[in-house]
Amino acid sequence: MTSSSIRGIARIVRGMPTSDGAGVKLTRVIGQRQLADLDPFLMLDEFGTDNPGDYIAGFPDHPHRGFETVTYMLDGRMRHRDNHGHEGVLVPGSVQWMTAGRGIVHSEMPEQQEGRMRGFQLWINLPAKDKMTAPKYQEFGPERIPAVTVDGARVKVIAGRVEGVDGPIAQPATDPTYLDIALDPGVRFSHALPDGHAAFLFVYEGAVRVGEEEHAVTVDTHQLAVLTDGDTVRLEGAASGKDTAAQPARAILVAGRPLREPVAKYGPFVMNTREELMQAFEDFQSGRF
Ligand code: FE2
Repeated sequence: MTSSSIRGIARIVRGMPTSDGAGVKLTRVIGQRQLADLDPFLMLDEFGTDNPGDYIAGFPDHPHRGFETVTYMLDGRMRHRDNHGHEGVLVPGSVQWMTAGRGIVHSEMPEQQEGRMRGFQLWINLPAKDKMTAPKYQEFGPERIPAVTVDGARVKVIAGRVEGVDGPIAQPATDPTYLDIALDPGVRFSHALPDGHAAFLFVYEGAVRVGEEEHAVTVDTHQLAVLTDGDTVRLEGAASGKDTAAQPARAILVAGRPLREPVAKYGPFVMNTREELMQAFEDFQSGRF
């Protein structure tokens, strides 16, 4: 017999409405007062709207240095273009894992005038040794993201491994897990995560019960659960408090190895020291990105 420890919930956080870019309305879930960060995760934004006025202004040219941005599109199309000649369109179900490293300047603009735009952007820190690495993209269309069904749970594996199926993303520094999970009410899904990795579940449709059966706690739509330590996550699709219809729950489960390094952060620059931050400003202003 092996004993496993089931991860519970350390806290539940709801995002704060905010706007970014040229006036895009979004919900900041990590990177706001209630949850300033969750090492190695610096920020999580959920965007989701049917109103073009909320997204049409997009994110014109802006810089990044010292970390990674991960964009996962659920609905809508977004064009990105950077100062190194990299350009493309993110379509529904696609993932862009961008290692900004020593610096890029890019724009992220809606490639549509109407309809729904929905997805997530997650910022993941890089360790000191990788902050000034060359910029790099890991970009995958929906057909490249493996989908696995485990006892009724439908799981898209962006990063990490489910039932021997590996997601396409490689990042040895933080060894991330990024799963998109759909659970009908009553359907259960257990997943092993390295003990010590920071982990969260963000529910974006329906509701999910998290934890050991008799102590499971319901996480509702648009709530993020920070998970306690342990080696296994146990989830079960639940009927949402607001919605009695048998709607499947959908959630992202994200985990990664904490870096435990000092963080010096200002807007789109995330370094280890104040001196490095000032250098980042100087390099950006003098066109060295
Ligand atoms: Fe960006």
